[in-house]
Amino acid sequence: MNETIHHINQLYIQFGNNKYDELISQTEHATQCAALAKASGASPELTIAALLHDIGHLLVLAENNGTIDFDTDDEHEALGARYLAAHFPSGVTAPIALHVAAKRFLCTADDTYFDQLSIGSVRSLEKQGGLMTHHEVMRFERSPHFSSAVELRRWDEGAKDEHIIVDPFESYLEMMEYTLNSK
Ligand SMILES: [Fe+2]
Ligand SMILES: [Fe+2]
Repeated sequence: MNETIHHINQLYIQFGNNKYDELISQTEHATQCAALAKASGASPELTIAALLHDIGHLLVLAENNGTIDFDTDDEHEALGARYLAAHFPSGVTAPIALHVAAKRFLCTADDTYFDQLSIGSVRSLEKQGGLMTHHEVMRFERSPHFSSAVELRRWDEGAKDEHIIVDPFESYLEMMEYTLNSK
C-alpha cells in the first residue's frame, strides 16, 4: 500500500472511533459522507474529499493523544487540507478547505439550512465565524470550488445517521490511491 494511504488508514483505525461531538463516530461520518457523494455520481476526487473532509479532527486527536478541546475552533478544515495538499490535487483539498465556509454560506443563504444542523454543528457555528457578511457571501460564490464545497457540505450534514450501514473505510483505499498526485 502507498505510504500516504497507509498513514491515512492508520489514522482512521486509531482515532476514527471518536464521536467528536456527534452521535456517530468519525469513521461512520466519513463513510456516510462518501456514500452520499458516490450516490450523487460525484467524481473520485470529490468522493475522496467527502471521505476525508474531517481528517483535520483526527490529526488534532492524534496530536493530543485523543483528547479534544471544544472551547476553541480546531480549524480542522485548513489543517486537513494542508496535510492532504502534499499528496492530493485541489479537486480533493479545496472542497475540504472550504467546507466550513460552505456551512456558514448555507446558513446565511438558505433559510431552511440552519434548522437541519445537528447539535454539534450548531455548537461549532459561532466559533467558526457564524453567519457570513454580504461581502463574504459574494467572495465565496466567486470561488472556483464553490459548488463542490456546497455539495460536500450538504452531504456532510446528511452523514450523521445513527441507523444506516454503508461501505467501510477500506473500500475507498483504491479510489484514494487513484486520486493521488503521484502514484
Ligand atoms: Fe467538518
Ligand atoms: Fe463533517
